[in-house]
Order: sequence, then C-alpha cells, then structure tokens
Amino acid sequence: MKVVEVKHPLIRHKVGLMREADISTKRFRELATEVGSLLTYEATADFETEKVTIDGWNGPIEVEKIKGKKVTVVPILRAGLGMMDGVLEHIPSAKISVVGIYRDEETLEPVPYFDKLVSNVEERVAIVVDPMLATGGSLIATIDLLKSRGCKSIKALILVAAPEGVKALEEAHPDIELYTASIDECLNENGYILPGLGDAGDKIFGTK
Ligand code: PRP
Ligand code: URA
Repeated sequence: MKVVEVKHPLIRHKVGLMREADISTKRFRELATEVGSLLTYEATADFETEKVTIDGWNGPIEVEKIKGKKVTVVPILRAGLGMMDGVLEHIPSAKISVVGIYRDEETLEPVPYFDKLVSNVEERVAIVVDPMLATGGSLIATIDLLKSRGCKSIKALILVAAPEGVKALEEAHPDIELYTASIDECLNENGYILPGLGDAGDKIFGTK
C-alpha cells in the first residue's frame, strides 16, 4: 500500500492547532477543511494531463488539462463531511458518494447505516475522506463497499492515523493509497488515537 505522511510545514502547523483541547468548533471545522485541501493537493499529484489548443490573447496556444478518470469524493459520515469542502475546492465538479458508518463504542466494530454512491462509481477515482483512522474498521468497510460496486482506484485522505489502523488497512487493501497529515503514536484502551484530536465528529459538529 502506498502510505504518504505529508510533512509539509503548513500541514504540521495546522494539525498542531487542531490538537488544542479547547479549540472552538468554528476553528476546528476551518482547519479540517484547510488540511483536507492540502492533502488533496498531494493526493492528486499523479493525475495525468493532456495538451489542448485554446485561443489565447495572442492567438492559439497549447495548454494542459487534466485527463482520464473523473472523481467521486466519498465522505464517511459524519466526520468526513468536515473535510469534503477541502477536496471540492480543487475538484469542484466531483460527484459525491456518501457512506454512513459509525463505530460501536463497546466493540469498536464499524456499523454501516447508509450509502448513496454515484451510479458510475466504477469509472471514477474515489477520494475517501475521514479525519480519523483508528482501528481502521470504518475505512476498511467503506473500501469493501466501494470495491463491491466495481471501484478500482481508491485514495484515502485522513487527518490523523494510528499505526494499528494503517497496518490493518494495509492487510485488507494493499492496492489503495493513503495520504495522512500525521501517523500518531498508538490507540488507547478505548480505541482513541494518542495524542490524536479527540472525537473528531463531536468537534466538527459541536456535539458532546
Ligand atoms: C470516527 C471517525 C472514523 C472512525 C474511526 O467516526 O470519524 O469514521 O471513528 O475509527 P475506526 O478506524 O476504529 O473505525 P465515529 O464512529 O465517531 O462517527 P461520527 O463520524 O459519526 O462521529
Ligand atoms: N474516532 C475519533 O473521532 N477519534 C479517535 O481518536 C478515534 C476514533
């Protein structure tokens, strides 16, 4: 599996701000979008371009445009919605495929409750967004679903990942790409990432 921990100073700075215990909902939400945007920039660096001729101010000129597969953004509800606008900033015409999964707090198992994928998902590059990769269960279940519907090209954008989740993901789906702003230290006994961000869904939506 291609794993990229993006070490750009802007990302390191912004993730550091997100770790403040008393950060406001507004600020956390803004930063989730901003880091989502920076991760999108990295994750799309391999998109192919083709040359096209356009009418420039001084006559015809050759420019590049992105060619190949179109994109579907896949936010994992709820917290993934907090990163979605960061992807759409760069790929505004992307279609959205929503996946609803929550993690059972006792068993830590993923519980799927909703999905609405675009109909031609098999023709698209899926960019899955979720702030947290803890045990990996939620992301693995999402990728299982995407593959079962024919999707062949999958990139996951994660703000903070636990080594345990990265390992589980690598075992389940070695053919995908993972871009993360930080691989943290470990999971605690409740399945939370340390040092982590706390409960990302609660911080984005202002719930407790
Ligand atoms: C969080 C997070 C991931 C999942 C990660 O969602 O946004 O989806 O947990 O944990 P895992 O890797 O162990 O599966 P949560 O279940 O809190 O739902 P929410 O987004 O609705 O708050
Ligand atoms: N979900 C979160 O929101 N945070 C964690 O640390 C683990 C799972």
